[in-house]
Amino acid sequence: MRFFLDTANLDELRAGASWGILDGCTTNPSLIAKEGIPIAERIRQITEIVDGDISAEVVATDCEGMLKEGRPLAAIHKNIVVKVPLTRDGIKACSIFSKEGIRVNVTLCFSAGQAILAAKAGAYFVSPFVGRVDDTGWDGIQLIRDICGIYKNYGFSTQVLSASLRTVNHVIDSAKAGAHVGTMPFKVMNSLFDHPLTDRGLEQFLKDHAKAFQPPAR
Ligand code: G3P
Repeated sequence: MRFFLDTANLDELRAGASWGILDGCTTNPSLIAKEGIPIAERIRQITEIVDGDISAEVVATDCEGMLKEGRPLAAIHKNIVVKVPLTRDGIKACSIFSKEGIRVNVTLCFSAGQAILAAKAGAYFVSPFVGRVDDTGWDGIQLIRDICGIYKNYGFSTQVLSASLRTVNHVIDSAKAGAHVGTMPFKVMNSLFDHPLTDRGLEQFLKDHAKAFQPPAR
């Protein structure tokens, strides 16, 4: 599973990139607004840090507007994936972008039926929101399983980008379910490192080593 950071914060992206395990980045209008930097400028900055797919979302809600916003975003860098919402206009824009060779991430996907529409429109990624499905009392990971199964049945090339991941278990379960990509906040990626037995084991290794090799006391 490829690992993306779901952030527009440059410090978080630099930290993730420094670990050598960062495969890409997703942003959305809320994340861009949090940083207070206009989208084209921030996306350009992100391309200097992240060597992988970078999703940049349009804010227009009509197809013409999405095309007008998405084309210049795609022109910023070869790694840009234009993100559109899973609406009628979004799917229409996805079909047009795909024919133009512009890769699209169809976001705000909450059902397997919606995911089929995205695949049929030639989406590069579909983004089902695991955490937000869980919030409604449904099973977000089951949605990932269903979509992966359906895409496999028909050989769709659209990749399942598991989004709205809030916990380490969301990441692990997305991987078990077969998601191609997991996008997560920095906090979740950082938490993946932690295990008390790793800390305890390392402490013991260093203690044993120091006991055997420490310089003799004068
Ligand atoms: O990738 C989608 C993500 O930004 C939404 O996350 O936690 O607000 O549901 P959340």
